[in-house]
Amino acid sequence: MNIFKAASTSVLLSALAAGGSVHAENSSDTLVVYFSASGNTEKVASVIAAELKADTFALKPVEPYSAEDLDYRNPESRSSREHADPSILPAYTGDVSGWGAYKKVYIGYPIWWGVAPNIVYGFVSKHDFNGKTVVTFSTSGSTGHGESGTDLAKKAAAGNWKSGADFKAGAKSEEIKDWVKSVASEQ
Ligand SMILES: Cc1cc2nc3c(=O)[nH]c(=O)nc-3n(C[C@H](O)[C@H](O)[C@H](O)COP(=O)(O)O)c2cc1C
Repeated sequence: MNIFKAASTSVLLSALAAGGSVHAENSSDTLVVYFSASGNTEKVASVIAAELKADTFALKPVEPYSAEDLDYRNPESRSSREHADPSILPAYTGDVSGWGAYKKVYIGYPIWWGVAPNIVYGFVSKHDFNGKTVVTFSTSGSTGHGESGTDLAKKAAAGNWKSGADFKAGAKSEEIKDWVKSVASEQ
């Protein structure tokens, strides 16, 4: 058998085994994209991805955030400067492959000053959401999801953006799974 044909057959079989729709490169029609500076959002993203059998893409900044960078009390810190200047869109490593084939995209991030960090705006502005259902989720210390999702939707200017949800650090898996089920039942 032609080696390329054999490889594509195995992709097809693993996609079927994963229970997702079959695309050339993806094992699911759902993607969970997330940024997490200190791990809280990553934990929530992994519960959502496992529940949906979704693919994941982590936004990893080319220049990782140090503790000083994350000091929101210091107006000169990197995160403070980025928040003050929306034109700063930090570079991230790699990109989603097979973007066009995803029908549903979950986007997760920590709340920084009430909204999503600039790196998430960078991702949103770089991708075409036309024809996709988009669901945002966040983790925050106290202030919650707020307008963070609708703000990203404005930036994207395409896609069917659903209202999102916020979880506190240490949210129980059951709480996250219940939310995933409620979102799925609305779609
Ligand atoms: C720069 C910065 C700004 C933050 N701003 C807020 C905020 O406006 N409201 C809030 O409740 N929590 C705020 N937090 C707390 C984070 O949202 C919270 O710790 C989040 O769970 C971190 O997620 P991560 O571990 O995925 O990075 C902020 C944290 C940082 C580092």
